[in-house]
Amino acid sequence: MKNFRQQLDDLKGKDRYRSLNLPSGIDFTSNDYLGLRAHPELRRAAIAALEGGLDIGAGGSRLLRGHTESHAALEEFAARYFGVEAALFFASGFQANAAIFGTLPGRDDTVIFDALIHASARDGIQASNATHARVPHNDLDAYEDALKNAKGQRWIAVESVYSMDGDRAPLKELYALAQKYDAYLIVDEAHGTGVFGDSGKGVSEGLPHENLITLHTCGKALGVAGGLVCAPRDIINYMVNRARPFIYSTAPMPLQAVLVKRALELVQEEPQRRQALHKLMHYASSMDFLDGLFGDHFSPILPVILGDDGVAVDIAKSLQQKGFDIRAIRPPTVPENTARLRISLSVNITEQNLRDLNAHLLPYLRKKAA
Ligand SMILES: Cc1ncc(COP(=O)(O)O)c(C=O)c1O
Repeated sequence: MKNFRQQLDDLKGKDRYRSLNLPSGIDFTSNDYLGLRAHPELRRAAIAALEGGLDIGAGGSRLLRGHTESHAALEEFAARYFGVEAALFFASGFQANAAIFGTLPGRDDTVIFDALIHASARDGIQASNATHARVPHNDLDAYEDALKNAKGQRWIAVESVYSMDGDRAPLKELYALAQKYDAYLIVDEAHGTGVFGDSGKGVSEGLPHENLITLHTCGKALGVAGGLVCAPRDIINYMVNRARPFIYSTAPMPLQAVLVKRALELVQEEPQRRQALHKLMHYASSMDFLDGLFGDHFSPILPVILGDDGVAVDIAKSLQQKGFDIRAIRPPTVPENTARLRISLSVNITEQNLRDLNAHLLPYLRKKAA
């Protein structure tokens, strides 16, 4: 029999054991960047929808009876909202990435992906029959070399804002490369949606759409759950016909679709949330300990890279005891020797919270630097 206990003990010995902990303390961890998760308007929308007779479950796959007016209304709205031909809604961003990469690139194609791309895209790429090429993080020359050497249809896979590092992909340059080599550019906007772009539509807002596929996850700044794939209509129709995670799964709850649509409207109606977040990001960038963290990027995700897993766990624990909800992120979520604290900024925290965190974190970082 496989000895799971032994494997868990090994993880403990390496400071890599994970357990589930309820939220406690000031939220420096969630991806609820705009504070929509607890927005009274979303609660009201949920209550109104249910009192209006909305069914709880979809009752089946989208291709069977699980396709409801709520799903259709969301996808139509999202296509207009993001200025694309069509959109397809999934229960989660993870499922959407599995569908994109498991379905679109074929056996004769090549997927060129960034070394820091999210596990959900990696799993999708792994499951596909296409050849794949991993390129060093944000290295445009390496992208171009890989494109030159690739065979078949080329697909470039990046994140607009990298989930554990907070830096951004050079999207304009990547889009130009995609055009030059007749490739599709797939942009995971998980941490860009609601946060960046002139009207909060993501870092890719304003890029032309012919060879662009974007994924807007709905459980982060949008405060709900799900994933919206935006693409040319033929691609969406192809996914409806071929994407196994779409076809062989019960449709998301109709309520989820109703709430995601309302959340998109709220991003439009309340730009002051995005402005408050950006103000906080500016404030944080002026602080001692965060100085070095921003580097040449600017985002609500601030990694404090400590290297050693045990050190990251110990510092996270001390900060938690002082009332800050900050978690240690360790391999394999991040590369070896880059264990870190992932500090996430959202409108749920104040400038005073940041000053307090600064006061507590600074001594650890000075000790490490000494
Ligand atoms: C970059 C990125 N893509 C996709 C996902 C998966 O999205 P979801 O949480 O909606 O499943 C995440 C979530 O952590 C993410 O950070």
